[in-house]
Amino acid sequence: MVQKSSSTTISMQLSGGEVEVILDERAQLEILCNMSQEFYQINDLDLLLEKILTRARQCVNADAGSIYLREGNRLNFTCTQNGTLEARLKPGEKLIYSTFSVPIDTRSIAGYVAVTGKSLNLPDVYRIDADAPYQFSRQFDQLDNYRTRSAFTFPLLNQKHDVIGVLQIINARDKQGGIIPFSTDDERLMALFASISAVAIERAHLTRSILLRMIKMAEMHDPKETGSHVNRVAAYSVELYERWAKKRNIPPTELDKTKDILRMAAMLHDVGKVGISDTILKKEGKLDSDEFEIMKQHTLLGARLFLDRQSDFDEAALQVVANHHEWFDGSRGYMGHVDIEKGTPLAGHVGEDGGPRPKKGDEIHIFGRIVALADVFDALSSARCYKKPWDDERILHILQEESGTHFDPELVEIFLDCFDVISALRNRYSDNTVGPGN
Ligand code: C2E
Ligand code: SIN
Ligand code: SIN
Ligand code: FE
Ligand code: FE
Repeated sequence: MVQKSSSTTISMQLSGGEVEVILDERAQLEILCNMSQEFYQINDLDLLLEKILTRARQCVNADAGSIYLREGNRLNFTCTQNGTLEARLKPGEKLIYSTFSVPIDTRSIAGYVAVTGKSLNLPDVYRIDADAPYQFSRQFDQLDNYRTRSAFTFPLLNQKHDVIGVLQIINARDKQGGIIPFSTDDERLMALFASISAVAIERAHLTRSILLRMIKMAEMHDPKETGSHVNRVAAYSVELYERWAKKRNIPPTELDKTKDILRMAAMLHDVGKVGISDTILKKEGKLDSDEFEIMKQHTLLGARLFLDRQSDFDEAALQVVANHHEWFDGSRGYMGHVDIEKGTPLAGHVGEDGGPRPKKGDEIHIFGRIVALADVFDALSSARCYKKPWDDERILHILQEESGTHFDPELVEIFLDCFDVISALRNRYSDNTVGPGN
C-alpha cells in the first residue's frame, strides 16, 4: 500500500529539525495556544491535515502518525508522516502514500476507536491482549522495514460528538531516541489537541465540499468526470509551485500560504465550462473551429466569477482561470489581454485579427503557467470523450517539444526532474482510489 517513492509537504516542515527536539511543557503549551490561529489560516484540507499531524507529533515527540477521515461507514487513510522513513530519503525525495480505507468495525485499531469513540493507548502493538477484538496489521511495517511499537489512537469528535476521524501517533521517543509508551500526560494533551483539530478539519472539509460542488456543477454534463482530474491538476500544480518557489527562496510561511490557495484555485481551472453547452462539451469527435471558439469562452466565463477579488483566494483563482490556456511564446494562446467584464481587447493590446493579443512570458501569471502544464499533462494522460489516454513517452516528448513555445521552459525542466513524484501523485489521485477528494 505504501509507495516508497516520496511525501507531500512533510520534508519541508521537518527540515528545521522541528520534530527532533523534545519540548518542555512551556513549549507544548505554546504550540497549543497558537494552534487554533495557525489552523484557521489553512483552508485546504490536505495541507491542514499535514499541519495537524506535524504538530501532534511535535507535541509528544512521536516518530510517526496518521490521520483517518470518516466517510460513511469507512475510515479513509488520508495523511501520514514518518520521521524514520523520511530520514532514509535522499534530498528532494518525498514519501507518497496511496489512499486506502478500513471499515468502521472493531477489528482494526483505528476502527475500534471510531466505533467506541474512546482513545486507545497501546505500549506495544505487537503485544496486544489476546482477548482484544482488534489486531495490528504488520503489513505496512514489513513493506517499510519499520517497527511500530507504541501507538496512541484517539477519535476526532465534532461539536455534535460524531466521530469525524481518527488520529494515530506512533512511537513516542525519550531524550535518547529510545521508543517508550505514551504517558498519561500525553493523553491529556492530545485530548485538547483533538478538539481544536476537529473544528479546523470540519471547516476545511466544508470548504472542500463546496468547491467540489462548484466543480461538479461545471462538469455535470459529463457523467465520466469524477473530480479526480481536478485533484490531480491541483496536486501537480502545488508540487511544481513548491519547487519553483524554493529556487527563489520564498520563505516557508509564504510558501505554505500560497500552496494552500493555489491548490484550491487550480481545482477550479475549468469552472467556466459551466457556461458551455452540453453538445460542445460532450462532443465525441474533434470540435470544428466555430465550436472551439465557443469552448475558448470558458476562460472568460470562469474569470468573471472571481472578478470582485474579495480575497487572496479569489485573486489566485482569477489568475488560474484566466491564464491557463496562454502559450509561453505568445503565439496562439487565449484569452489574452482582455477586459474581463466586457470581453473586449484591452486598449493597446488589439492583435492583427482585431481580437485581444495573447499574453506571453511573464505577462502570464505564474499560476497560469503552472496550471497550463499540469492540465495538459493530465488531459493527455487521461481518456477524454474525444481522445484515448497517451502513453508517458509520447506525453513527455510533446512537453519537451513544446517547452518554450507552449510551456515555460523552467517549469518543464522542474516537471521532468520530479516526474517520479508526479506519477506517484497520479496514482494517488487515480480515478478509482477511495479518498476524500473523490
Ligand atoms: P481539456 O480536455 O481539459 O484539455 C486541456 C488542454 O489539454 C487542451 O486545451 C490542450 O492544450 C491539451 N490537450 C487535450 N487533448 C489534447 C490532444 O489530444 N492533443 C493535444 N496536442 N493537446 C491536447 P485546449 O485545446 O484549449 O482545449 C480546452 C478544452 O476544450 C479541453 O479541455 C476540452 O474540454 C475541449 N476540447 C478541446 N478539443 C476538443 C475536441 O476535439 N473535442 C471535444 N469534445 N472537446 C475538445
Ligand atoms: C490501525 O488499525 O490502526 C490501522 C491499520 C493497521 O495498521 O493495522
Ligand atoms: C475559501 O474559503 O474558499 C477561500 C479562502 C480565502 O478566502 O482565502
Ligand atoms: Fe481549460
Ligand atoms: Fe482541465
